[in-house]
Amino acid sequence: MDRIKSEELKKKICSAEEAAALVTPGTVVGVSGFTSAGYPKLVPGALAKRAESGEDMRLTLISGASVGDELDGALARSGAVARRYPYQSNKSLRAAINEGKIAYADIHLGQLSRLVRTGVFGPVDTAIVEASAILEDGSIVPTMCVGSADTLVQCARQVIVELNTAVPDLTGLHDIYTPQMPPHTKPIPICHVSDRIGQPSIPCDPAKICVIVLSETPDAGGPGTAPDEVTGRIARNLVAFLKGEQAAGRLSDLLPPLQSGVGGTGNAILSELAHSGMQGLSLYSEVLQSAVLDMIDSGTVAFASGSALSFTPEYQQKFYENFEEYRKKIVLRPQEISNSGEVIARLGVIAINTAIEADLSGNVNSTHIGGSRLMNGIGGSGDYARNAGLTVFVTPATAKNGALSCIVPWVSHVDHTEHDTDVLITEYGAADLRGKTPYERADLIIETCAAPTFRPQLREYMERVKKECRDHHGIPVLK
Ligand code: COA
Repeated sequence: MDRIKSEELKKKICSAEEAAALVTPGTVVGVSGFTSAGYPKLVPGALAKRAESGEDMRLTLISGASVGDELDGALARSGAVARRYPYQSNKSLRAAINEGKIAYADIHLGQLSRLVRTGVFGPVDTAIVEASAILEDGSIVPTMCVGSADTLVQCARQVIVELNTAVPDLTGLHDIYTPQMPPHTKPIPICHVSDRIGQPSIPCDPAKICVIVLSETPDAGGPGTAPDEVTGRIARNLVAFLKGEQAAGRLSDLLPPLQSGVGGTGNAILSELAHSGMQGLSLYSEVLQSAVLDMIDSGTVAFASGSALSFTPEYQQKFYENFEEYRKKIVLRPQEISNSGEVIARLGVIAINTAIEADLSGNVNSTHIGGSRLMNGIGGSGDYARNAGLTVFVTPATAKNGALSCIVPWVSHVDHTEHDTDVLITEYGAADLRGKTPYERADLIIETCAAPTFRPQLREYMERVKKECRDHHGIPVLK
């Protein structure tokens, strides 16, 4: 096993069942993993079996972000998890959260690691992290993400490593930098997306590594790249808007770094950008989806910084086969750095995230269907929206085959306020809300973004609001 550089550590190889037996019920377990990339796959399965055989596990589970079904799905279905932080996108887990069987709190991903270090979730007992290599000094070379693994390893009493040989040795891909806590915090010295400020592996006292499990299971990975009719039109509206801003001199010829959100819409937008004719762009994002490889191949993107590579199986293979070349153009950082407000603001990032619905003021709901059913979570959208140089939200104008309008009078749940939404884009157009009054914003959103079938209802609503305001000489009270 040449991926383990320490002879002492080689003696710690064991089965997933033996590793899972070391996890104490009722404790906090931290796992690597971010957007179904770089998460442990075997030990969680063995933990699920303990719960299925009747053990009351009551685990508090913390990851960087969403992880694959072998982890979130298996543990949720087995009843092993009592509390879950900070983001998920798993069907079984989502159902358990919405049924009240698993406690969940939605947390900005950029703030998770600091919160873990403060101990608000309780002491981290076990960290289970996936590695592509373990170095002589015990430090861990991650696989396809960093997420919060640096902090979880630092805080855990014991560390279980899943060494995954389905992934090549990815040494040189990661840049591990963990900030000090206040009052010792220093500026994060990233001035360009390609700056490397840390070390290539996660520091870990070898004595803390209790066992190592060998794995050959690939990541579930992220969505495919192909835009459909609607997402293609959204992407073209975005490109036209950005080009218009360049022509007006509000954006430089070489755009500031772009950030693109999770999900099919975000990936389709990147895919469209790859064919926009733009060249030499940079990405400062948290998740880098499959389309990023196309953008690098086409020269659209010169460098990409993220916290995870959430690729389809096909794109995972492409990345592994050409790792030495891609390594020169990609860096993976802890989510505390990829989502740092300080760095996002310094770089003047153009943030592009997907809304579930947006209202006539520009408030955005990214997380809750009908205001109460959790979809995934806020993820990093708030980290970027609040700190970016230009904040864009995109959404199809309708959902459920046109039955529901995603442009509504009032959002049923607020994740991002009107103050953070600079531009709202649907397949019908781009509404530039900067500097607009509340009525101007509402009129613009209706006429530019709403589906034509829903415009009469929205106009009628606004007429009632305006009348109410006139009658009461003030703020409308309609909802
Ligand atoms: N009302 C009801 N349902 C709606 C809806 C609305 N207004 N808008 C979307 N939906 C449903 C869709 O129908 C779909 O349902 P399905 O799973 O049953 O098919 C589901 O929500 C997801 O929508 P989809 O069109 O597949 O979107 P997506 O894959 O692009 O994901 C988000 C969109 C908002 C769920 C996703 O981007 C997200 O989780 N965002 C929050 C986190 C984030 O922004 N992170 C960014 C930093 S990386």
